[in-house]
Amino acid sequence: MYVCICNAFTEKQVCTAIRKGISTPSGLFRHLGCVPQCGKCVPTVRHMVKDPESLLSPPGHHDNIYHVELQATG
Ligand code: FES
Repeated sequence: MYVCICNAFTEKQVCTAIRKGISTPSGLFRHLGCVPQCGKCVPTVRHMVKDPESLLSPPGHHDNIYHVELQATG
């Protein structure tokens, strides 16, 4: 699922960046080689980098791939 429409980056890309140690929205944008444009995604990005666990889907939810990816990091 897209997190940022302006820069076309996805939840999966955010997860990958978090696994690499990105912990701030500015760090995420820098890591992805882009800058905020409309800014609408910034609160979501901030939430994701600060507390990625809170975005996990409940067990059995159709969109729990995010959970699986985070668990695979060890
Ligand atoms: S949706 Fe991310 S900058 Fe517009």
